[in-house]
Amino acid sequence: MNTLHLSNTSEDIETASAILSKGGLVAMPTETVYGLAADALNGDAVRRIFEAKGRPMDNPLIVHVAEFSDIDRLHLVAEIPEKAKKLADAFWPGPLTIIMKKGAVIPDEVSAGLDTVAIRIPSHPDAHRLLSVSGLALAAPSANTSGKPSPTTAKHVSDDMDGKIEAILDGGACSVGVESTVITVVTDVPRILRPGLITREQLESVIGEVAVDHAVLNKLENNEKAASPGMKYKHYAPRARVILVRGSDEKYITFVNRIYARDKSVAAMCYDEDKPRLSAPCITIGARDDEEAQAQALFDALRAVDEIDGVKTVYAHCPSAEGVGMALYNRLIRAAAFEVIDLPSKRIIGLTGQTGAGKSEAAGYLAELGLPVVSADKAARLAVGDSEVKAMLCAAFGDVLDSDGELNRRLVAEIAFSTPKNTATLNAITHPAIIRIMLEEAEKADGDIVVFDASQLFESGEDRLCDRILSIVADRDIRLGRLKARDGVTEREIQRRMSAQFDEAFFLRFSDDIIENNGTPAQLRERVREFYERLVSA
Ligand code: TXA
Ligand code: MG
Repeated sequence: MNTLHLSNTSEDIETASAILSKGGLVAMPTETVYGLAADALNGDAVRRIFEAKGRPMDNPLIVHVAEFSDIDRLHLVAEIPEKAKKLADAFWPGPLTIIMKKGAVIPDEVSAGLDTVAIRIPSHPDAHRLLSVSGLALAAPSANTSGKPSPTTAKHVSDDMDGKIEAILDGGACSVGVESTVITVVTDVPRILRPGLITREQLESVIGEVAVDHAVLNKLENNEKAASPGMKYKHYAPRARVILVRGSDEKYITFVNRIYARDKSVAAMCYDEDKPRLSAPCITIGARDDEEAQAQALFDALRAVDEIDGVKTVYAHCPSAEGVGMALYNRLIRAAAFEVIDLPSKRIIGLTGQTGAGKSEAAGYLAELGLPVVSADKAARLAVGDSEVKAMLCAAFGDVLDSDGELNRRLVAEIAFSTPKNTATLNAITHPAIIRIMLEEAEKADGDIVVFDASQLFESGEDRLCDRILSIVADRDIRLGRLKARDGVTEREIQRRMSAQFDEAFFLRFSDDIIENNGTPAQLRERVREFYERLVSA
């Protein structure tokens, strides 16, 4: 099909109106996002919307009208409750959708078999003209391919819909940028099913208590039913993986910079103010305190992710879920398929270094100075006792349990270190569990500064959680001598351990502080004390 690209002249609006009257599909601008419109009372036309979008048939559509009186004129609802009238007075035309008991004329395709219907009067002048010229009620979901970010420009629509629909009416960029707030007034206490520019507080100022549906901010369990079917899907997602990162500005920036330093396939989605301090490619969504600007930019930003070459993962700074932020959070958490990383609230000092360099001694000195030390080795021993970890290790390496059900660590080590691929498998299974345990320990520890003592700080990804990284290095011969002096370590084992580690240049490059420990224990202790003094005085 050849999709017509229309402008918003009167002539083009007439053309669009004629297409709709004949059961065709027209993408129309609204103040929130572009909608993919069809005559709401024509079930066949509506069915084509689902086909064009690839939308599951159990997800109902919003019906748009030009005037409040159209709701009665077209018998769209069974009745208009008092609270709906008040909301309409306060917020229509505008970015609010009200769910009411449906009228008999509403085809099942629109309501997806529910006994309710969603109604909205958009404020965009072109949408309004199209609705009044056609005299129709228009069913219109967002005009994107199902699952992708909603379109806020005609270009976004044409990227998804060219060749699938009769026409696209270009009315410029949408001013709101996120879809309407959806509220049901069918329940005793009206309930927000989807947050938008119109906030809970604004709604409550008009009709009193308003609830927020559980699914707005939380992932539905498998057996939970969605009040708003559109809220249960992974949604708004670019091709790249989106991960939300919750934490202070400072921690977020450090986190992304540490990842990008070693992995160029990542990007940041952040506030304007953060961009100068981020080394990764950034997609900015507006000034930190301007949530309306962020809402306007959000979907364009999510689409822009896939336009940066080679980006596989984007780390988005998690907004607060207050006010308009609730709408941002609701969209982003779905774009991320609910994958969230919580950064620690305390200052984390990563302590690492080459084998034999004196990291453990340095950890002891920091502990003497009063800092809580969380040991990755200890966390690793706890992690392999975890039943889920054990199950995953058995799935990967066969039966590696002893008769008492505990992990046979010698056997696991033998298999895991036999090939690089097995080592990677072991790490992929254990590192997340180790990190989880270390973070728990850090939260429990006394004080605001916690040391992560970890020989595999960089390999595990623990480095990215650290505010500062201190590495202990020493000359190879000196390290070799120290290791030989330790009981029970063979020369072969020493060589293996050394060659499995990053070289000194790596530690120099990716650490914030370095202590060279070629001297005596007393000298190391002194260096560590100096480091500590700098740390606590900063
Ligand atoms: O801003 C908007 O609302 C845009 C523009 C085009 O008006 N439209 C839009 O439609 O976002 P759509 O289909 O992408 O989202 C409609 C949402 C879905 O989450 C759907 O499940 C919910 O509204 N919905 C529609 N009818 C419903 C009903 N009867 N009961 C509960 N939820 C309903
Ligand atoms: Mg949508």
